[in-house]
Amino acid sequence: MLARAVTHALVGLEPRRVEVEAHLERGIPGFAIVGLADRACQEAKHRVRSGISSALLEWPLDRRITVNLAPAGLRKEGSSFDLSIALAVLAASRQVPAERLAEHAAVGELALDGRIRPVRGAFAVAEGARSLGLELILCAPESAAEAELAGVQAVPVRHLGEAVAYLRGELQPAPVESPDETVEPELPDLADVRGQERARRALELAAAGGHNLLLAGPPGTGKTMLGRRLPGILPLLAPAEALEVTRIHSVAGLLAPERPLVLRAPFRAPHHSSSTAAIVGGGPGPRPGEASLAHRGVLLLDELPEFQRPTLEALRQPLEDGMIAIARASGQALFPARFQLVATMNLCPCAGRGDPAAECSCSPQRLAAFRDKLSRALLDRFDLVVTVPRPRAAELAAGPSEASQPVRVRVAAARVRLREAAPLRTKAADELLTRAVERLPLSGRGRARVARVARTAAALAESDAVESEHVAEALAYRSPKELAA
Ligand SMILES: Nc1ncnc2c1ncn2[C@@H]1O[C@H](COP(=O)(O)OP(=O)(O)OP(=O)(O)O)[C@@H](O)[C@H]1O
Ligand SMILES: [Mg+2]
Ligand SMILES: [Zn+2]
Repeated sequence: MLARAVTHALVGLEPRRVEVEAHLERGIPGFAIVGLADRACQEAKHRVRSGISSALLEWPLDRRITVNLAPAGLRKEGSSFDLSIALAVLAASRQVPAERLAEHAAVGELALDGRIRPVRGAFAVAEGARSLGLELILCAPESAAEAELAGVQAVPVRHLGEAVAYLRGELQPAPVESPDETVEPELPDLADVRGQERARRALELAAAGGHNLLLAGPPGTGKTMLGRRLPGILPLLAPAEALEVTRIHSVAGLLAPERPLVLRAPFRAPHHSSSTAAIVGGGPGPRPGEASLAHRGVLLLDELPEFQRPTLEALRQPLEDGMIAIARASGQALFPARFQLVATMNLCPCAGRGDPAAECSCSPQRLAAFRDKLSRALLDRFDLVVTVPRPRAAELAAGPSEASQPVRVRVAAARVRLREAAPLRTKAADELLTRAVERLPLSGRGRARVARVARTAAALAESDAVESEHVAEALAYRSPKELAA
């Protein structure tokens, strides 16, 4: 007796169809899973067997059971096939109707007592189901709202027994609660930051144009504070972006069951001790790293020079093309990583440089090593470099600064302008840029980045053209003297 269930494995973010075939035959009783299944997948045998017994269903004791996961060339990882395997075995032993099972996809891990647990990537698996024309997916209740974002109907089941009763037509599962669509709690506000007008302006430009920003300066001047306030002035994600980000966060297992759709631009701030794999992705699966989790949002690298040099170098490629490719024996996994980089740093290892109240005690060698860590190639990718000086007493004593809300409105308006009628450079602005390329000098990439920042400045000023003043402002954020030798 042969029965089939269909599910999907994930290669990176891509769902790949997996057919689960359960074959029951006479012979020496036993249970085998074949078809390039990894350890966690092999352990499915124990979970499926004990799950079926716990659900008071019958384990076909006198039969030889072979489960084949096809195609065999695709490596199957993790526990997400448990539910499909159990249902295929039950269909092969005529305990659930095979034709009803064929109308459903299924995804979920089985606990030994038959409970169904949510797994990572339910959204992408549900997308795979829909692409096959399946409209129903059996899954854990925690995955239901997430799966429905893919345009299928989720059948939330808490227990294998419940899934079987449903497939036999004995039970109607509770409907999926509609997700909570309110946006999450408030973010830190710019009203808290005193003074630092130039850095605030750079933050606004960064938000409007999606530019990379480096905040450098002595300790305690508000660099980290400013970096953390970028998400609060970004617009919400467009619907297509929201689904794209949701797919990535689903594969990482980061979605909140009650509000699975990511509406806000993501903000990720990994610690400087993070491994390269944690930042750019990797490991079994492979899984997306922080750079991909920050896709369409912000990656904050606080204390940039503390990160390992190879980690920083690994970020150069995604900063250029917005993609991370991870090679595996089973093929290449692609993760989008179009993030906006914000970094903070002191001006030297002892942090005394640029601080009128302190003196730099770094040896020339130590200073050189510090600067070496940040390759020119990396620094070249920051569109906006701004020094954040120690605020004057008067600035700190002044009343509250402008809050995030009006800034967010200006940013949103500038983004619309940039999308619909990007301003073009005037002749004078063009000449200024050409002269700067020779004088600074600017690399080809540097020139393009200055041109983009100038366009953002023009859009924020509601100007129809990029004027010299906008190019001049963009140039002023290029290489501040404090960072030079
Ligand atoms: N411009 C400012 N306005 C208001 N508060 C500030 C400002 N600068 C610093 N502070 C206060 O100092 C604390 C430290 O600021 P923050 O962590 O942003 O400094 P930093 O520049 O990142 O320093 P470090 O280089 O040591 O990391 C803040 O929590 C805040 O209370
Ligand atoms: Mg800091
Ligand atoms: Zn120093």
